[in-house]
Amino acid sequence: GIPNFVKIVEVGPRDGLQNEKNLVSTAVKVELIQRLVSSGLSVVEATSFVSPKWVPQLADAKDVMAAVCNLDGARLPVLTPNLKGFEAAVAAGAKEVAVFASASESFSKSNINCSIEESLVRYRAVTRAAKELSIPVRGYVSCVVGCPVEGAIPPSKVAYVAKELYDMGCFEISLGDTIGVGTPGTVVPMLEAVMAVVPVEKLAVHFHDTYGQSLPNILISLQMGISTLDSSIAGLGGCPYAKGASGNVATEDVVYMLNGLGVKTNVDLAKLMLAGDFISKHLSRPSGSKTATALNRV
Ligand code: HMG
Ligand code: MG
Repeated sequence: GIPNFVKIVEVGPRDGLQNEKNLVSTAVKVELIQRLVSSGLSVVEATSFVSPKWVPQLADAKDVMAAVCNLDGARLPVLTPNLKGFEAAVAAGAKEVAVFASASESFSKSNINCSIEESLVRYRAVTRAAKELSIPVRGYVSCVVGCPVEGAIPPSKVAYVAKELYDMGCFEISLGDTIGVGTPGTVVPMLEAVMAVVPVEKLAVHFHDTYGQSLPNILISLQMGISTLDSSIAGLGGCPYAKGASGNVATEDVVYMLNGLGVKTNVDLAKLMLAGDFISKHLSRPSGSKTATALNRV
């Protein structure tokens, strides 16, 4: 059956904004995070401590973190690709981090400029340092069904990377369909392979909506026992190093579906929509959420 409660990990301020070409001001980022937290989201991924040459939009990670790190009511993890990023994140006040590996060799190279094995070595250093400070580390696996270069990715490869991250101490493994090519037809065998090696309660799913498959993929994941979902306000998102990737599934659409299923999230849809309106106005773009578009009309 479907879980009674679902934890939503809001990734808009990070996955959403990392893909925006025009620089968004630090003040807007901070207000977005505050609005998301006050809508009831218990986890809001705030920014990334990555190279500013690779992701110029998030070059203000330190200032964003300084402004939000004492917000009550939510955990605010940040992405860290290596020890340098981890140390900068901790110095800026981060209390939780995430590392990001890939199930695709080509994507690993284009996203973090190293092989999968090299990334796992880096991430072992990060998880070791984090353990000493009692900082929880989330692990991402990207390209879990497809890669922009290699095409289909075997479920065994995803399971391998997920287990490596789990074994090095990641408390949760988020499985990312980075380019949004999955359907329930490919997501189910992938989840079965991962669930054979990592407990289902430690797994999250992270769908990009390129082909409109996110909600069916989420529903099938819930039916398989997954109770942590990543989503992005107004459907923002994409990865600058994944050609063809579009936005993440919109948080408003996920909450609407979960409300319909009678699944608790503790998220207030009306407040969430105001956060979505806020960022959409700043980006001068209509919301990518169908729920927001529909409810704003009635
Ligand atoms: P590199 O060029 O191989 O790194 O990049 P390097 O070690 O040779 O260093 C090059 C320069 O970067 C040096 O500076 C370093 O100091 C600096 P320079 O001497 O040239 O002035 N540097 C850093 N600066 C700030 N913070 C750091 C850091 N590390 C090195 N942490 C690196 C390797 C990993 C740094 C780079 O490739 C990078 O930053 N990549 C991040 C790309 C990224 O953020 N991608 C998007 C997130 S992943 C994603 O979206 C998928 C996900 O959503 C899941 C899904 O959808 O499936 C998570
Ligand atoms: Mg993503």
